[in-house]
Amino acid sequence: MTITGKARLAGVMGWPVGHSRSPRLHGYWLERYGIDGAYVPLAVRPEDLGTALRALPKLGFRGCNLTVPHKEQAMHIVDRVDDTARMIGAINTVVVEADGSLTGRNTDAPGFVANLVQGAPKLELDGATVMVIGAGGAARGVVAGLIEAGVVQVRLANRSAEKTNALVRAFEPYVVSTPWGERADHLDDIDLLVNTTSLGMEGQPPLDLPLDGLPRRAVVTDVVYAPLETDLLARARARGNPVVDGLGMLLHQAVPGFEAWFGVRPDVTEDLRRHVLG
Ligand code: ATR
Repeated sequence: MTITGKARLAGVMGWPVGHSRSPRLHGYWLERYGIDGAYVPLAVRPEDLGTALRALPKLGFRGCNLTVPHKEQAMHIVDRVDDTARMIGAINTVVVEADGSLTGRNTDAPGFVANLVQGAPKLELDGATVMVIGAGGAARGVVAGLIEAGVVQVRLANRSAEKTNALVRAFEPYVVSTPWGERADHLDDIDLLVNTTSLGMEGQPPLDLPLDGLPRRAVVTDVVYAPLETDLLARARARGNPVVDGLGMLLHQAVPGFEAWFGVRPDVTEDLRRHVLG
């Protein structure tokens, strides 16, 4: 689509940024809704992040997304962050306010939940018991979303004690840790199983987690979306469990930013999924 001199501007800051699917994703919506706007990749070195963020209002940008490695550092640069972002310790979305100040948000948590609601509509998160594998940045977004959705307990299994303890502390009293070696022994009463590690991603070994003890009604989801069907999801599906892939989380986390910058709340559709994968 041709843009005019009045085009609204946003983008994604990362280093490197070439792998980001966000320009493709937001570009689809701009075209779909006929918006005079542009969403561009912004390759910003870590040492330049403060200068780059402060330049957004001066360049007329409405805001940006943040990807690796900027999400944590950016939280300390913007003027305010919401409670979810503070709990997670990272932001992925910046909105330039009318006075030029910067508001940071974390939309991974609502994005994760929205993907589950769309992909597993029968799952009742309010009152649910959930097993989360992994305790890194992705796990923090997932756990924050689960707590906001009303889960009663998050069981956390993670290889290193260091990250486990940090996450348990950040989300007390909702998160209890399960020893890594016993991760398969505490699945028999859960409603949802989530893999937040990079295990199962292309080029990585699969997640080693026997599912024999898992109830067939339990939903299984993965934050990994390349491949779309990880080994974990394939094994869960084969035994009859409902599964939700990780691509939807990427799509849904983009919705609040697009709405704030471009003024339209966009839909997450099958056609969008195909476009982003393509
Ligand atoms: P992200 O921000 O994508 O979550 P991260 O912060 O590096 O990335 O976290 C990766 C998570 O995957 C961690 O919980 C990590 O476990 P450790 O705390 O032990 O490092 C987990 N992980 C990565 N590779 C793993 C492996 N081979 N076995 C078990 N866990 C692994």
